[in-house]
Amino acid sequence: MNDIHSFARPDEAVVRHLALDLAVDFERQILSGSATLSIDVHDGARELVLDTNGLTIDRVTLDDGSETTFALGDEQPYLGRSLTIAINAGTKSVKIEYASSPEAAAVQWLTPAQTAGGKDPFLFTQSQAILARTWVPCQDTPGVRMTYEATIRVPRGLMAVMSAENPTEASADGVYHFKMPQPIPSYLLALAVGDLAFRSLGRNSGVYAEKPMIEASAYELADTQKMIDAAERIYGPYRWGQYDVLVLPPSFPFGGMENPRLTFATPTILAGDRSLVSLVAHELAHSWSGNLVTNATWNDFWLNEGFTVYFERRIMEEVAGREYSEMLALLGYQDLEATVAELPPRDTHLFLDLTGRDPDEAATKLPYEKGYSLLRLIEESVGREAFDKFLRAYFDRHAFQSMTTSAFVAELREQLLSQFPGSEDKIGVEQWIHTPGIPENAPQIKSDAFTRVEDQVEAFQRGTPAGELATKGWSTHEWIHFLRHLPKNLTREQMAQLDAAFHFTDSGNSEVLHEWLMAAIEHRYETAYDALERFLLRQGRRKFLKPLYQKLAETPEGLERAGKIYAKARPTYHSVSYRTIDQIVK
Ligand code: BES
Ligand code: ZN
Repeated sequence: MNDIHSFARPDEAVVRHLALDLAVDFERQILSGSATLSIDVHDGARELVLDTNGLTIDRVTLDDGSETTFALGDEQPYLGRSLTIAINAGTKSVKIEYASSPEAAAVQWLTPAQTAGGKDPFLFTQSQAILARTWVPCQDTPGVRMTYEATIRVPRGLMAVMSAENPTEASADGVYHFKMPQPIPSYLLALAVGDLAFRSLGRNSGVYAEKPMIEASAYELADTQKMIDAAERIYGPYRWGQYDVLVLPPSFPFGGMENPRLTFATPTILAGDRSLVSLVAHELAHSWSGNLVTNATWNDFWLNEGFTVYFERRIMEEVAGREYSEMLALLGYQDLEATVAELPPRDTHLFLDLTGRDPDEAATKLPYEKGYSLLRLIEESVGREAFDKFLRAYFDRHAFQSMTTSAFVAELREQLLSQFPGSEDKIGVEQWIHTPGIPENAPQIKSDAFTRVEDQVEAFQRGTPAGELATKGWSTHEWIHFLRHLPKNLTREQMAQLDAAFHFTDSGNSEVLHEWLMAAIEHRYETAYDALERFLLRQGRRKFLKPLYQKLAETPEGLERAGKIYAKARPTYHSVSYRTIDQIVK
């Protein structure tokens, strides 16, 4: 499989196992030590080619103890530099002594002030899509899998955790040993270090967080075990042993990241009422779609995310009911429409063409929601029973392998659609995958709950006072729908009435607050501007930051405000977020 985002040549020599030994230096903001790579070498190959980005390579030795020669290629934007190592016919492993740079894009080094505890520093990594190479020399392509083990040395008192078998208590000497016995692609390498605590949530689930956050985290994630059990009923055994969630400090740039055995999550899901936990269902679902069967290249990203959104909503249907999961689906469809309206048509195919581009650009809602729509259409065309049977067998057949879009389509035809005459033409899989926009046969999603919300928006517009709207018992998702459908021509006075009745500016629910702040900028509702600034300063989740900065940047005054806030906020954001916001505010 040719991956345009990797220099590696796995057809010649491929990495099968990684043994890391790294010291974490918070003062110098450097990870240093060694990576020993076990390799399979094909006949006649005399080079092992790896990906690196910003790494300093000190020395490379072969398994016979001899030092070998290596060369770093020219630096290429976002791809970094190839590392070509001379090997012998019989070479079984190479040991690379190296250090990362303080600018390593995967790694965020947090000061004590950026943590809940306030006393100790914190570190976390984010390797997807091609940032693993900024902290580990590796074949940084989702088409190559390896098992790994690691020794990590941290300041005494702090705990280290990885996408692997984890400790539940701090060690006396600050040294930790990890093992990941299942083969994984490099983008799932992950490390976090801080003053962490652990709480069990069930038979094979638990949560890690900074000590001051552990209580709230355990409360919010109480349904995790139920989700695992539901997922196993639908698509078969969970193959990774333990499933834990690490609730990170607020600068984590994503909602969640499906690091195997240890999902990394933003603390902005801690709403206090468990209303945002579909994010856990999503990251858990990746234990099948993504971590077990992996997109072969980043062009195939929808195989990871579209399947995962479909699976996420199936899990939520099991644990919270159909009405609930249909609300999620309808909010997702709104995201899809907005995304298609915004993106150039060529970026709205399911199969992407990322030639010459950073795969981070694929991280739009399109592969998520268009992928979901296609899978739901297939489900509706052949029936849930047949589709589940197909998917379950698909995960089994391809467990611990990568998958291309074309191989998936071929298998879908052979194993499923062939048994349902006419289904292939009705669905039009090729059109979904290789043409832009939303095909006309996209499933129609209806939510009676949302229809009632729309009625209340209208009532408000016609003059019903905010306090008299029928909002009793609304869930977070109904509020989000309400806020997204506020009329464009609201006056500031009407915004103030809504705020007085529903206290949006003071909302402790990050999703609700985000929608409200978008409306506040739109309608120049200045009362909320302090809250807007605080929100941009206290969390670094790109999904919230990007639309808010973009909205501000629509007017000269807004852009000036954004610039002032960003000057303070930028040093607290992870590279994934500040690289995106730099393009909006600078
Ligand atoms: N794997 C993604 C996060 C990701 C995508 C990181 C692309 C780097 C590149 C993760 O599973 C995800 O989709 N997270 C979402 C949450 C989800 C509920 C849609 C997010 O962070 O918003
Ligand atoms: Zn995902």
